[in-house]
Amino acid sequence: MSDYDIAVIPGDGIGQEVTPAAVDVLESLDIDFVFHEADAGDAVLAETGQALPQETYDLAASSDATLFGAAGETAADVILPLRTAVDSFVNVRPAKAYPGIDAVRPETDLVFLRENTEGVYAGHEDRLSDDLSTLTRVVTDSASRRLAEYACDFVDDRGLEGFTVVHKANVMRETDGRFRDAVVDVADDHGLETNEVLMDAFATHVCLDPTQFDVVVCPNLAGDVLSDLAAGLVGGLGLLPSANVGPERALFEPVHGTAPDIAGDGVANPAAAVLSAAMLLEYLGHDEEGSAVRMAVESVLESGPRTPDLGGDASTADVTGAVIDRL
Ligand code: NAI
Ligand code: MG
Repeated sequence: MSDYDIAVIPGDGIGQEVTPAAVDVLESLDIDFVFHEADAGDAVLAETGQALPQETYDLAASSDATLFGAAGETAADVILPLRTAVDSFVNVRPAKAYPGIDAVRPETDLVFLRENTEGVYAGHEDRLSDDLSTLTRVVTDSASRRLAEYACDFVDDRGLEGFTVVHKANVMRETDGRFRDAVVDVADDHGLETNEVLMDAFATHVCLDPTQFDVVVCPNLAGDVLSDLAAGLVGGLGLLPSANVGPERALFEPVHGTAPDIAGDGVANPAAAVLSAAMLLEYLGHDEEGSAVRMAVESVLESGPRTPDLGGDASTADVTGAVIDRL
């Protein structure tokens, strides 16, 4: 019997190139993984009429963890249900600048913990007339507390004293007021400090001095937008990993998409997918192997070989091979 069953869903475009690279890195470790590959995305939609086949959903819903690549035009039809399949209540998005990479703010090193189930993404939109459309923003005490409990464990594990809470409770008094009150209350119970920053002001502060922030807890839309903003500070989306964490399983994916402009050329940068695999290792409790993978990626980013997006001429396979050699 293996230790872990891992669902592997490469999807479309460079998902087909970087996801196998992440699997190769995991296979080079001394951990007993069994990988189960499944289809999702534009190609399988064209073939079968379904972007996310039921067996793919079921596989993600029953595996210990899932590695996802990217889907093209069907991204929302694939990734939103897959997040539901793992009951993911938090989206963990580290934004860190790496040595040797041209970054706007090379000192950036922070992690967004984004509420992943509700807010304005809860899907309650209505067209009431030819002139009027509305959106209902959903905030529950339970989802806010579940996120905050995760945040408290997250900062405890890292030896930090607290975290930043981003919100706009001065305007959205009821919804963000509820979010803020719940998160601060949970942090208080854990004896942790919270630093409240209004989300618009946060956008300015993080650009001017990202070192003020370590762990940033935010509602769904704010986390989506602000983490992409932070991606700009560290040198682009191509290097960012992410984790969608649920109570019993989790799904790991690079933040980037299918990169149709380079798909099929074998030159996609595997760093984001491999760093997502490092997060998978840490999620499964293999902290040592996770940080070894992270350090191997950092070392390759710094000294090469590098793919064309970072100014080099290496292939995906060259970079993946170099990461495995460093390990
Ligand atoms: P994208 O992230 O695919 O590409 C943006 C730019 O970054 C392109 O120039 C691309 O070549 C480059 N890039 C991205 N990842 C790279 C990597 N690993 N190595 C080297 N270069 C890389 O975003 P775009 O162009 O907005 O979207 C393309 C498709 O991907 C769309 O169909 C979109 O719906 C889908 N998408 C899917 C996502 C997902 O499945 N989670 C997320 C974002 C977009
Ligand atoms: Mg986004």
